[in-house]
Amino acid sequence: MSRAGKTKFQIDLRRHLREHYVNENLTHLICEIAEASKYIIHSISTGDLGVAGTSNLYGEKQLELDVLADRILRKRLDHSRVVANMMSEEMDEIIPVSPDCDGKYSVAFDPLDGSSLVDVNLAVGTIVSIFEGCDLLQPGRRQVAAVYVLYGPRTTLVYSVGKGVHEFGMNMLREYTLLQENITLEPQGSLYSPGGQRNLYTPGVEAFVTKLEDRGVKLRYSGGFVPDINQILLKGQGIFFYPHLKKQPQGKLRLLFELSPMAFLIEQAGGAASDGRQPILDLQPTQIHERSPVFIGCKKDVALAEEYIRKFEDGKGEVAEKKAKP
Ligand code: AHG
Ligand code: MN
Ligand code: MN
Repeated sequence: MSRAGKTKFQIDLRRHLREHYVNENLTHLICEIAEASKYIIHSISTGDLGVAGTSNLYGEKQLELDVLADRILRKRLDHSRVVANMMSEEMDEIIPVSPDCDGKYSVAFDPLDGSSLVDVNLAVGTIVSIFEGCDLLQPGRRQVAAVYVLYGPRTTLVYSVGKGVHEFGMNMLREYTLLQENITLEPQGSLYSPGGQRNLYTPGVEAFVTKLEDRGVKLRYSGGFVPDINQILLKGQGIFFYPHLKKQPQGKLRLLFELSPMAFLIEQAGGAASDGRQPILDLQPTQIHERSPVFIGCKKDVALAEEYIRKFEDGKGEVAEKKAKP
């Protein structure tokens, strides 16, 4: 399909998916997620910021917005005719939508990540992981697509179907048009986004952060996973981590609908994502709400974190650059 006469900004999401020979059902699914985001934006800008009076499986108080965003996405996916199973941060278990798996997809999503930031007007997002067929408990490497929507000063959508990472912006007509495609990361970065509490960092992570700071790397942390990852992706460099902590060996972030989709996108951009010892995308989930530590961003920075964890926590091997010095 030629782009003759078209500028980037006239390439909308559906056209871009078609240009990348994405099949009709997956194209429809990703466009339905984009459509749902328009209603989520509306709920963020006008919705009740209050507490819903319920809590999710983690015992976290659900905000009205969490529940509303979840309902918007769930309804869209339910009626899409291309979803087999779905689950979200706000659901206790997997919701079956259609018994037959052929040509259908299973979707795990965080309807509103960072929702507690809305009442202080900071950026939040929606994160979606897509597998072919009925099984959601697969290693993230088997995802066929990952999408996030960032509700910030501008609303943007980033997706990959395994053929590069591409960013779209919402225009005046509330259509998503191409901003940039085939986004890539540098091997090493100059910003870091440290989650959790420094006083609870384990020796390897503490040494890793000190190393970054000695290198003059700048701290950038908003408390929202989607804007924090988006910053690394669009600046083309940096590392985010929410590590294993002294009292939280699994860290905080959830594998299925936060880490796997972001790891898919970052690896597609030439970066890396690890739990501190192995790639996030190789982790085999055993239950839908499991958490994992995460180090995600520039390849060299992720590898350095793994080396410090190995050296200071597993007692194995020397940190590479130490060996490099004469
Ligand atoms: P959610 O709002 O979906 O529960 O996710 C919040 C997550 C993520 O957005 C962010 O990276 C992390 O919480 C921040 O945690 P801390 O507030 O502990 O830094
Ligand atoms: Mn979240
Ligand atoms: Mn959430």
